[in-house]
Amino acid sequence: MCGIVGYKGKPVRVKDILDTLKMLEYRGYDSAGLAYSRDGILELRKVEGKIEKLYGLVDDSFTDLVIAHTRWATHGIPNDINAHPHVVGTLAVVHNGIIENYREIKNYLNGYQFKSETDSEVIVHLVNYFYKDNLFDSILASVKFLKGAFAFVLMDTKSGDLVAVKMESPIVIGLIDGGYIVSSDIPSIIKWTRRIITLENGDIFYISSGDFKIFNFIENRFVRRNIEIISWDLGIAEKSGYKHFMLKEINEQGKVIRDTIAGRIEKNEIILDEEVRNYLDSTDIRNIVYIACGTSYHAGLVGVYYSLELAGLNSHAVHASEYRYIDKSRVSLDDTLFVFISQSGETADTLSVARELKGMKAKILAIPNVIGSSMYREFLSFPTRAGVEIGVAATKTFTAQLINLLLLNLYLAKKKNIQIDGLVHEILTIHEFVDSILESYDQILELAQEYSDYQHFMYLGRHLMYPIALEGALKLKEISYIHAEAYPAGEMKHGPIALIDNKMPTFYLYPYNRLVNKNLSNIQEIKARKGKVIALVDKKTKEIAKDIVDRMIEIRYVNEYLQPILAVIPLQLFAYYIADWKGFNVDQPRNLAKSVTVE
Ligand code: AGP
Repeated sequence: MCGIVGYKGKPVRVKDILDTLKMLEYRGYDSAGLAYSRDGILELRKVEGKIEKLYGLVDDSFTDLVIAHTRWATHGIPNDINAHPHVVGTLAVVHNGIIENYREIKNYLNGYQFKSETDSEVIVHLVNYFYKDNLFDSILASVKFLKGAFAFVLMDTKSGDLVAVKMESPIVIGLIDGGYIVSSDIPSIIKWTRRIITLENGDIFYISSGDFKIFNFIENRFVRRNIEIISWDLGIAEKSGYKHFMLKEINEQGKVIRDTIAGRIEKNEIILDEEVRNYLDSTDIRNIVYIACGTSYHAGLVGVYYSLELAGLNSHAVHASEYRYIDKSRVSLDDTLFVFISQSGETADTLSVARELKGMKAKILAIPNVIGSSMYREFLSFPTRAGVEIGVAATKTFTAQLINLLLLNLYLAKKKNIQIDGLVHEILTIHEFVDSILESYDQILELAQEYSDYQHFMYLGRHLMYPIALEGALKLKEISYIHAEAYPAGEMKHGPIALIDNKMPTFYLYPYNRLVNKNLSNIQEIKARKGKVIALVDKKTKEIAKDIVDRMIEIRYVNEYLQPILAVIPLQLFAYYIADWKGFNVDQPRNLAKSVTVE
């Protein structure tokens, strides 16, 4: 993970570069640092903690050469020594990724003094080792040694040169008047320029005395890359009066649904986006595999139920981090659509599987949220339209993913002449019920305060409520740091029931559906073991549950295929209010990052 920035050009305020770095904080925020040239002298500032602390360490000085970094630790704890940049003499480097063979390189550089515990530090030592009088040659010699995923930016205050290298981890170059700005993503540099070069694997972007050249060390030749003019705009990343981005994003879900379906349903018919529709119309599909990580994987699990029951297709969902290492040589690609789901469109595991399958000529559809992300650019995309999501815990993007998956499967059902009555009409109105849950947030706030001291939670649900149980538990874990287990309720008797006592409450997802009585039996089994039950009900199950469970949260009764969209919202709010009540940093929880670009 980590975010990296580099700049060479007309003098700019060092603090302007920190402002750009701040936009990459979603990629990691456990330590930060920068190196810049002050009249040819290398200045270094590093801190454990957030970028905010760095502002206090730089004055209002200007520089024409600077690199900066925000870190998500992989090798070595977060402290100011392990923070980047790493410096040797006049060279300084910032790195995003993992140098897998860093121990071998350390052995090779026997005798060199390493200051940090990081893998990244070997880069600058290696370049220094090969550096005689030509920096470009030493970079070329060095990159051939490196194994793993890496994007790095290196500066040299002696020559005044700046170099950016890309292998798997993302890196883009902004062309500005009289200079260059390098970054891990496009949104962070849009305010500098809209003229962007996206580097490809093996590219070395070398800037010396105002000019640049790109050499690809895999192809062993100089290459040209297109300059793309970015036309899209950033969404508004402001809290708009909300205490946290996460709360704002939870509250935006009604609008997100409206935006996500806009133009994709016409006269009660699903039409999707033209390019996607044309592709699906010309493709034979009998199986759908959903591939994703974290929350996006949970959306994929919901997609499985939609594919099986609505579109009549064989389907399963797999974690990208697992599927990445499956030997796929015997996997049947015929008639199978692989759907990749990713909010960021940059998740390393997800992208890696997608690229591998693309290489095998598999049928691929991507569902990214970030326009301009690697996934968006490299694959046929059916994007969600949730807008910018800043809170590390995914909320509104999950809802948008569910909508896209529902539309996709209803389209595939239509293609097979499967008649599904009424559902499309209900999709058009579901946003109203989302808004009405959000209006009654105070009950959930009260519930969260009442239950905030419990150390363990169980989340249970059956059928479409099972992935939602997983998602509710994930939200609680990631922002409240409370242990939460989630199971399909029918699995409880196979082991997890042993955990139930009065110290482990269960959040039971109990809207009315075909399994109403099975669910009731499971609730009774929990109560018989002195377990407390918070039930998520609707008007039909409320009457059944009211004398049995301890607390109830009510959502509207809707078609069971739309229940995931309503059911997840109280769970997001519950996790949010507990985390806030406990005083945690809701938007940037410990140990996490918004975009997971390492394995
Ligand atoms: C969600 O709350 C998480 N922070 C995380 O699980 C996330 O969903 C996962 O890393 C996948 O990210 P992506 O959707 O950007 O690929």
